[in-house]
Amino acid sequence: MLIRRSTDADLDRIDVVHRAAFGEPGSSAEPIEVALVRALRADDGWVPQLSLVAIGAEGDVVGHVVCTEGHVQGGRAVGLGPIGVLPALQGSGVGAALMHAVLGAADAMDYALVALLGHLDYYPRFGFVPAESLGVTAPDPSWGAHFQARTLHAWTPEVTGTFRYAAPFDDLG
Ligand SMILES: CC(C)(COP(=O)(O)OP(=O)(O)OC[C@H]1O[C@@H](n2cnc3c(N)ncnc32)[C@H](O)[C@@H]1OP(=O)(O)O)[C@@H](O)C(=O)NCCC(=O)NCCS
Repeated sequence: MLIRRSTDADLDRIDVVHRAAFGEPGSSAEPIEVALVRALRADDGWVPQLSLVAIGAEGDVVGHVVCTEGHVQGGRAVGLGPIGVLPALQGSGVGAALMHAVLGAADAMDYALVALLGHLDYYPRFGFVPAESLGVTAPDPSWGAHFQARTLHAWTPEVTGTFRYAAPFDDLG
């Protein structure tokens, strides 16, 4: 498997990945993540270095992850998501490869913190802890411990307060 930055030529295939990863089985409803990635790409918070695709054996995009610039006091931070892998390939390490690659890239860019809303079974293996334990609070307090953060080399204890995602996340309702 290859992990690389996404290009404009990958856009349609990235839609396919998120449509399959987040779609409800048996439903034709478009999952919000498809439009979210497109909106993020047009937003000031887009960081091209942090939009990565996984390439499968046939040369197709089989997974995608993106981090976009968010806001928190005391340091530069990004929000991670969406991350999606084609259902047929889930559980084979594609998601982990994308996570390690995007965290390394964010660290190399001197971001201090990566925040996400996600499962407590999955993200702690990548160093995520409940953000509250670092003094960083979720945009929505009801998210509780599912709002997690991973500190990077540039992190200091001054990174605190409420995390704000890039604007397109606010339009999710
Ligand atoms: C979440 C996702 C990106 C992980 O990618 P992946 O390639 O399946 O993950 P990996 O193969 O690296 O890791 C598999 C491990 O993650 C766990 N895992 C995968 N998805 C999970 C989920 N939604 N909740 C909890 N654990 C999950 C598996 O149980 C497995 O655990 P194990 O290693 O202890 O057996 C992928 O499953 C996916 O696209 N899911 C649908 C979309 C989604 O929910 N995105 C994340 C939103 S928070």
